[in-house]
Amino acid sequence: MSAKLKPNQTQGPKPPESDPPETAKLTVGGRSVELPITTGSEQEKGIDVTRLRDLTGVVTLDPGFANTASCTSSITFLDGERGILRYRGFPIEEVAEYATHSEVAYLLIYGNLPTRRELEQFTARIAERYNLPDGMERIFDNFPRTTHPMAVLASSLTALSGYYRDLTHSSPTREEIDAVILTFLAQVPTIAAYGYRRRHGLPILPPKRDLSPVANYLYMMFGAQQDDAVVQALRQILILHADHEQNCSTSTVRLVGSSRANAFVAVASGLGALWGPLHGGANQAVIEMLEAIHQDGDNFAKYIGMAKDKTSGFRLMGFGHRVYKNFDPRSRIIKKACDQVLGKLGIHDPLLDLAKRLEEVALKDDYFVSRKLYPNVDFYSGIILRAIGIPTDEFTVIFALGRLPGWLAHWREMLESPGFKIGRPRQIYTGPTQRKYVPLAQRG
Ligand code: ACO
Repeated sequence: MSAKLKPNQTQGPKPPESDPPETAKLTVGGRSVELPITTGSEQEKGIDVTRLRDLTGVVTLDPGFANTASCTSSITFLDGERGILRYRGFPIEEVAEYATHSEVAYLLIYGNLPTRRELEQFTARIAERYNLPDGMERIFDNFPRTTHPMAVLASSLTALSGYYRDLTHSSPTREEIDAVILTFLAQVPTIAAYGYRRRHGLPILPPKRDLSPVANYLYMMFGAQQDDAVVQALRQILILHADHEQNCSTSTVRLVGSSRANAFVAVASGLGALWGPLHGGANQAVIEMLEAIHQDGDNFAKYIGMAKDKTSGFRLMGFGHRVYKNFDPRSRIIKKACDQVLGKLGIHDPLLDLAKRLEEVALKDDYFVSRKLYPNVDFYSGIILRAIGIPTDEFTVIFALGRLPGWLAHWREMLESPGFKIGRPRQIYTGPTQRKYVPLAQRG
């Protein structure tokens, strides 16, 4: 069977209304079908294969979904070749420079920048929900101290659903969706901070509503009002992580939510996906890697060599990205912020020098250049988090707090998309063909 796929038009400006809709012609086993092409607002094109199996009997095969759009979405635009990232049309550079994290959450979830009044109402409605329901605090005492903070966060969030049974049914109204969003934006940071306090045997600190949400989170963690440089550094890290379209954890939230499972378990599943070192766990893995190289006498050439050697099982953490093939715009912002924050706090971190040297060497090395491997957002974020006192194993929790508005925006967008379907990919089966069952007694 041969298959030839030719987009009839690939480039150029959006055609005038009168032009016939774009299609792609696919020939499978001598039979040709025309498949519609969906064009996004930035002229990205996707061949719509919804009817492919009905028309031809074949499916598409795309391990890792590297070439598959699972949905249309109006939240985040990303162009990996040109290093562009925009939240609802606003460039990440501008948003990261000027916006608050709550403003970005509002923007991602509701589609527009809030007016001053809308933002005040939004943050007030979040702040009034900061406190966890009675009884919830005891949960943190039942985890072994060795539990990873991401496990505490995910399981506590699932447990929280027990206190909000009215928000767990399968067809939430718009008001209930909003209630979920406000509850999560308020209580996930509280859970994260309480989990940290109890894991370290420290008393829980109730939230302070007169602080900004970011400053309040830091207060609940550390018990003292933080330097503005620290608050601003965390604000920027949270914003840079706030959304990244259909990444592994967001796709997980959408997939779990598509079964109409409630948001508590959908977001908890997203937390699980984020935890992995190839995704949100990379920030922790980067610092562990830099520490190991530092302890090894800053012998970074050895580790660059290991990263290039497929048999070593070692990767340069914080390097490479599925969609950025030129540079990650977030990493540029964060590298600059790293210098600024450490300067303001008067910290000299040898890991920052090491990271810069590693980057310099890797970016001249043909292995990394030819594979288009560049530092991603997490190559430098860990150095900032370390400087502001966040323990290494809490790094991915910070990523989660940043990404939470994105997950909620996607969950809401999916629920409000007319006729959305349960996510259920196909496969190409490669196991044994039919064989006869042999009873145990005859198997020897
Ligand atoms: N170090 C060394 N080699 C690498 C690295 C790396 N960090 N990343 C990719 N490669 C190599 C692969 O071995 C592969 O080489 P090959 O073509 O010779 O087989 C090639 O580059 C392509 O890599 P893939 O794994 O196919 O790329 P993919 O798009 O699937 O993976 C990923 C992207 C997971 C980010 C990968 O680059 C990686 O593991 N990076 C390190 C972990 C990391 O920093 N993750 C954070 C991502 S950003 C985020 O989630 C916020």
